[in-house]
Amino acid sequence: MSEEQSVDRPPISSPEDITAFFTSLEGRLVNELEALSEVESDRSDLYEQVELRWTGRKNGIITQVSGWMKDVSSDHKKNFGRAFNLFKSQLELLLKEAKGPFDTYLELRKLHPEIGHAGLDITLPGTLRAPGIPHPLLKTMHEIVQVFHHLGYSTNLGPQVESDFYNFEALNFPPNHPARDTQDTLIIANQQSRPSRDRLLMRTHTSPVQIRTMIAQAPPIRIVIPGKVHRNDAADATHSPIFHQIEGLCVDTNITFSDLKGTLDHAMKALFGSDVKTRFFPSFFPFTEPSADVQISCIFCGGKGCRKCKHSGWIELLGCGMVDPAVFTAVTEERRKIDPSDDTYNPEKITGFAFGMGVERIAMIQHGISDIGHFYSGDMRFLEQFA
Ligand code: DAH
Repeated sequence: MSEEQSVDRPPISSPEDITAFFTSLEGRLVNELEALSEVESDRSDLYEQVELRWTGRKNGIITQVSGWMKDVSSDHKKNFGRAFNLFKSQLELLLKEAKGPFDTYLELRKLHPEIGHAGLDITLPGTLRAPGIPHPLLKTMHEIVQVFHHLGYSTNLGPQVESDFYNFEALNFPPNHPARDTQDTLIIANQQSRPSRDRLLMRTHTSPVQIRTMIAQAPPIRIVIPGKVHRNDAADATHSPIFHQIEGLCVDTNITFSDLKGTLDHAMKALFGSDVKTRFFPSFFPFTEPSADVQISCIFCGGKGCRKCKHSGWIELLGCGMVDPAVFTAVTEERRKIDPSDDTYNPEKITGFAFGMGVERIAMIQHGISDIGHFYSGDMRFLEQFA
């Protein structure tokens, strides 16, 4: 019997002797359990040692103490027995409680065998992975595209590195035309030896995809073109040198300006609410004739006039117009390189409308965002608001 396992047999000659003995025994038990509560939960062997010391059938403390019972004088036997039973049931309860963490560890170990091997600390808080959400710009872009999908439009994409021909010439911006100045951009270096129409640049708008689409396919055409565009613009609260647009093109026989108005009026109501009114102002774009700027009644003040609409009651949102015959002619010239008799885009027979809008501008109005820079900052405090 190891020293630890032995327990001194006290003289029992009064009820106080009994109380004193069981109190000291309890003190010893509490100390041992306290020490046990501080060991790692993978040390169930230490728990088992304690359990054996107290409840071991052969030499456990309980067995030893119960062995003394027969020698306790009859005056004190009953008291001793009662105190012993009380202590025993308390011991069982405390042992069960102390076993808990060791059992939990063993359970976990069964579920995750890697625990304990890789020095994994299961008490450390886990890594919380927040679910991803679409970026607010993508969300708005998707919403706009969706409105047109419901009208039967499909989506087309084009390259960001574009040739002068698609970005400008075919859209009726002849070389040196002053309208090009409004869309200055980055030009790919070392192309002086190339004909000007083939020189590459970062596209300044999504309109070149109109040309690409018409060269590739015959009417009827109903497409929207979302994408990234580049301009030589200084960044400020409402401008960014890289931003996003959605272009639209509808070409068929008998497409009129009222089709354009009806389509865009519907789209603005779908995006900003059915109370919104639209109005069309004369404007200029080289590739549309007539051209218009679309304004919506101010969604902040309902048209009464406020700071956001500069007290006009209206917010300018996008450009549009009827496809200029010069654009159809440029498309026809390209198509005739493949089929010299091609007459698909004869401006006498077909008409169309086009429109283009800035995604950032629409998202800023939708959410009341005052600085375009928030979209590109990657600041989680901003982005989380769209979760
Ligand atoms: N491409 C024009 C721009 O970036 C926007 C635009 C205006 C597109 C009118 C169109 C349109 O298709 O018809 O400023």
